[in-house]
Amino acid sequence: MSNIINIGLLGLGTVGGGVAAVLAQNGAAINARAEGTVRIKAALVRDLAKSRAGAVPLTTAPADILTDDSVAIVVELMGGVEPARAYVLEALRRKKSVVTANKDLLALHAEEIFRVAAENGQDVYFEGAVAGGIPIIAALRTSLTADDIRSVTGIINGTTNYILTAMTEQGSDFAAVLREAQELGYAESDPTADVEGLDAARKLAILATLAFHSPVSISDVYTEGITGVTAADISYARELGCVIKLLATARKTDEGVEVHVHPTLLPERHPLATVRDVFNAVYVVGNALGESMFYGRGAGALPTASAVLSDVIRAARARMSGTQGRTGLDIDRRLPIKPGRDYRSSYYIRLKVRDEPRVFASLALFFAEADISFASIIQKPRRNGNAEIVLVTHPCRESQMEQALASVRAYSKLEKIYNMIRVWNE
Ligand code: NAP
Ligand code: HSE
Repeated sequence: MSNIINIGLLGLGTVGGGVAAVLAQNGAAINARAEGTVRIKAALVRDLAKSRAGAVPLTTAPADILTDDSVAIVVELMGGVEPARAYVLEALRRKKSVVTANKDLLALHAEEIFRVAAENGQDVYFEGAVAGGIPIIAALRTSLTADDIRSVTGIINGTTNYILTAMTEQGSDFAAVLREAQELGYAESDPTADVEGLDAARKLAILATLAFHSPVSISDVYTEGITGVTAADISYARELGCVIKLLATARKTDEGVEVHVHPTLLPERHPLATVRDVFNAVYVVGNALGESMFYGRGAGALPTASAVLSDVIRAARARMSGTQGRTGLDIDRRLPIKPGRDYRSSYYIRLKVRDEPRVFASLALFFAEADISFASIIQKPRRNGNAEIVLVTHPCRESQMEQALASVRAYSKLEKIYNMIRVWNE
């Protein structure tokens, strides 16, 4: 008789529904690889009356899953921090393996969850938590562990990548594209976590922790969203041979780890510049590996379910072979985190000044006094006696940029500073 592997789902929404669908569709292969029959024993939901595809047994009582000794693997797909954290800890204490796709939970509580897992000889798997269906977690947790990872740079939020792609290709402004994305169901009705960069920051904290084997938390990540990016900035970026992307970057430097999420002018020749629409990609640089890019669908019911069920197979096999409890977060150092946002970067600055003699010379002096050198300059024909100027600098620290901008802001010939966006540096 076949070995039954009972799993309990905490949540049967988009991803939970995808898990049930992929299990129904690919069940034979999944069972062969899990060396048993994977069966959803029950799914925890809030609303029993909601209409749902498939025939998964439902419950509103977490204990039906957490205290059921026949459930070996708890799959947390409810989202949010509480009560998800409490249920995951309870499952581990009851000697169950845990699979989760919850980046909000892991970005805040990974160390606690992995400590409790280790104390109870259990594992936590989370392939679906970052970049949905892209197997970047397995790559960092296993395939790349012999390398010294220098940097991880990702487009890890599909909503913002969709918006920036549409702004680039249609020339529309942020608000119009966001409205359209919401109507099409690509953006949430409350898009704050996506457009303000918070979702990407949570995912970056997880990637950086794995890549550098050193804890990085969400509060370490300097975060700026895309709400200030305009069609005009995108058009100037194109003139400069760049696209604008929301990049999440983690770098290991001699002074420590720097982690930041912000819009970035990225040269069109960079592999990440080709990542369009809702697609995600993670670009990894290691001292032995060199450059490598992982690309695919970063969200959605079926791609995320594919990642979640691969974790279920891993968990089932580990339980079967008695090897569970041996894969932790693999933290073996505590690297310093470079505080704040004062890291070296090139900058794009778009401003409007009076179009008069000596104005450009004065601007050049303000930047020279802060020891900043220009890489490119664009000036557009005068309108109403004003000139629009775009400056791109060579790398400098933000404190130098602030010094220059303080002089620019105080300058009587300044009409407006429109925007300042960082530019990609290798
Ligand atoms: P969702 O569609 O909102 O589904 C959440 C499910 O959890 C629903 O079934 C809901 O019950 C249930 N639930 C929530 N809070 C509950 C509570 N307190 N008690 C009982 N049941 C509760 O969410 P989702 O999009 O599937 O996302 C699930 C997780 O996967 C999140 O952590 C998310 O960040 C992550 N993730 C999602 C995607 C994606 O493409 N959606 C991709 C990668 C990772 P009802 O059905 O009764 O409301
Ligand atoms: N809201 C996320 C995104 C999907 O737009 O990428 C789940 O992580």
